[in-house]
Amino acid sequence: MKTQLLIDGTWRDGADGDQISVLNPATGDEVASIAAGTPADAVAACDAAAAAQRGWAATAPRVRAEVLRNCFQILIDHTDELAELITLEHGKPLADAKGEIAYAAEFFRWNSEEAVRIRGSISTAPGGANKIIVRHPPVGVVVIVTPWNFPAAMITRKLAPALAAGNAVVIKPPREAPLTALRIGELLEQAGVPTGLVNLVPTKDSGAWFGAAVDHKATRMVSFTGSTEVGRVLLARAAQRVLKVCMELGGNAPFIVFDDADVEAAVEGALVAKMRHSAETCTAANRFFAQAGVADEFTEKLATAMGAMKVGSGMEPGVQCGPMINAGAVDSIDGLVKAAVGAGATTALGGGPVSGPGFFYEPTVLGNVSPQSPITEAEIFGPVAPVIPFTDTDLMISQANNTEMGLAAYVYTQNIGLGLSVSERLESGMVGLNRGAMSDPAAPFGGMKQSGLGREGASEGIYEFCETQYIAASW
Ligand code: SIN
Repeated sequence: MKTQLLIDGTWRDGADGDQISVLNPATGDEVASIAAGTPADAVAACDAAAAAQRGWAATAPRVRAEVLRNCFQILIDHTDELAELITLEHGKPLADAKGEIAYAAEFFRWNSEEAVRIRGSISTAPGGANKIIVRHPPVGVVVIVTPWNFPAAMITRKLAPALAAGNAVVIKPPREAPLTALRIGELLEQAGVPTGLVNLVPTKDSGAWFGAAVDHKATRMVSFTGSTEVGRVLLARAAQRVLKVCMELGGNAPFIVFDDADVEAAVEGALVAKMRHSAETCTAANRFFAQAGVADEFTEKLATAMGAMKVGSGMEPGVQCGPMINAGAVDSIDGLVKAAVGAGATTALGGGPVSGPGFFYEPTVLGNVSPQSPITEAEIFGPVAPVIPFTDTDLMISQANNTEMGLAAYVYTQNIGLGLSVSERLESGMVGLNRGAMSDPAAPFGGMKQSGLGREGASEGIYEFCETQYIAASW
């Protein structure tokens, strides 16, 4: 497979010949060395995107749609190969990696259907003097920066609507897990994506790379998924050129279990919400609020279910939780667990790193966690479930909302009226009601508060990559 930069349809090394070493987090060993891009390469990629975008924007929506449909199919046809690459560089179990490819491909299918439905409007001005015509042209060149936790899907969730709307893109795949992106780049060429429309430039020097891409005069938008901390920096930088932005940032999801919940179903949902993709998702349940009547039962059953999960290399059959991305991630998870236990939490399961090779952490369940514990403020990004018992629903909701984040939340109750009214009171862009998973290309993914700006997926997603132009017309 290609291990170079893709710029203007050519695979080539970076301007200074530097390389990025890609590690397998299950072993710590190098699995590939790929070309590293420089700021000059980012500029070259923006030049190529700008040149390709004009023709693509002028291409009939139906033709764009058919190219996207080919992209969907080619990803599906290469599921096994792409899933193995994801597991190699990210570590997640193969079953999760295959699920990720299905999810990633679906963004192409969904947006192939949306490409022919970008709607404008026409109305008569209230004074009757003219018509108000509203249309939605593409923004132009979009800079896409993606995280390592979904090496395929976080790219396609942006790339597919960007292309569907008539844009060209320059992508900075994650340094930790760039191989899947490079292989997808090759496949998209085979699927008929025109030359120069999709440029892939991994780099070691994200700050300089991003500055060069943002300062390019053709760049009109930045779409980013990653931490809120990095998002703030990118937002400030993009503001210097008043670029359009779409930001999918960090989460701190509450998972709420009421006394009347079906506890078995809540545990099953908790496993999905906490542990999918090795517990490294921004929608991951981060704080479990369990009502006093079920708190002990829920904690015990969750500990039993998480304790039964097989931890190991995602390549091994039956493994349900792979390694963390690197040693730093293990240290940071362990620091949070130790602080919570030091502050009085009980350990119902696990509680420490697994000795190497690789970067593993034990599935861990903590009971009786104080709502003030630092673990309730941090995005854990690891297989740790802190359970906070509650008695007062109003107080619990205010604690659930007491965070800068507002991405995902989960509610388990058999009283659908209670579930809906609590969902409405949660300051969260997405709520799973009796469900541990809510990600769907047909639904608007995104957060409130400091979890982000804009939405990806659904009908809304494509308009993020469009301008709005109004023409006042008389005839
Ligand atoms: C993320 O972790 O950023 C995405 C999670 C998802 O799409 O389910």
